[in-house]
Amino acid sequence: MTDDWLRRNRANWDDRVRVHADSDFYDLPGFRDGACTLRGFELDELGDVSGKRLVHLQCHMGQDTLSWARRGAAHVTGLDFSEAAIRTARQLAEDLALDGQSRFVTADVYDAAEALRGERFDVVYTGLGALCWLPDLPRWARVVAGLLDDGGVLYLAEFHPFTEVLGDDGKSVEVDYFDERGTTWDEPHTYTDGPPLAHTVSVQWQHPLGAVVTALAQAGLRIEFLHEHATTLFQRYPVLERTGPAQNPVFRFPAGHPRLPLMYSIRATRW
Ligand SMILES: C[S@@+](CC[C@H](N)C(=O)[O-])C[C@H]1O[C@@H](n2cnc3c(N)ncnc32)[C@H](O)[C@@H]1O
Repeated sequence: MTDDWLRRNRANWDDRVRVHADSDFYDLPGFRDGACTLRGFELDELGDVSGKRLVHLQCHMGQDTLSWARRGAAHVTGLDFSEAAIRTARQLAEDLALDGQSRFVTADVYDAAEALRGERFDVVYTGLGALCWLPDLPRWARVVAGLLDDGGVLYLAEFHPFTEVLGDDGKSVEVDYFDERGTTWDEPHTYTDGPPLAHTVSVQWQHPLGAVVTALAQAGLRIEFLHEHATTLFQRYPVLERTGPAQNPVFRFPAGHPRLPLMYSIRATRW
């Protein structure tokens, strides 16, 4: 089944986009009204993007991509293999009069260099449920390095792979942390509110943190930091407490409860 991963995953994502575009979770009307979808720690850690040329790999419907444009990036490019996602992103950009400052391209992330005709960027931004869709991390890291200008920065924020080791109860050890072979899932619903999917099968890969860092270092990037976060963006375990604004909630362990890493972020430079 994993041999057929690209076709399966694209059909699954085209289907998810149909549901996500109407979901409260992604709240496209709120975004049109000016909401910023970027998380506070991302804004702090990537810093000022004014005047930068930024490419967002696996950009989904383009909300994060366009949020960087709203924060002053000179030009943003979003890339995703789902034609439905790219169509939605282009419409959003047009509605917000950001189409002169943005571009959205349909391509497999592994074909990004060809799809973007060898263009180099100041910033590659990606993550938040991106790496689990990619079977080959060293190849992904080489793509990232190839998209960066000298001195350019990769900023990646992801869900921590350790969170997959524990079951949904947050207590039982259920999954092998080191198993990168890929798992076929058959799930009737996506992670947002909305109707069931028609294409329910997907293939996903879990990558240990060491594999991510090693792939980036071996692609020639210098790691500036690897931060592990004790907060996440959804109710991963029942014990987590929801805090923060309604549209951008943060989930954390209650005071006094032993904490696990729930997310991580990496900033790396091409030199
Ligand atoms: C969970 S979303 C990324 C999170 C995104 N920041 C958001 O707005 O929520 C994962 C995205 O990866 C894209 N994707 C998955 N595999 C891909 C691939 N091989 N090449 C390009 N895009 C891919 C999907 O179409 C989807 O839009």
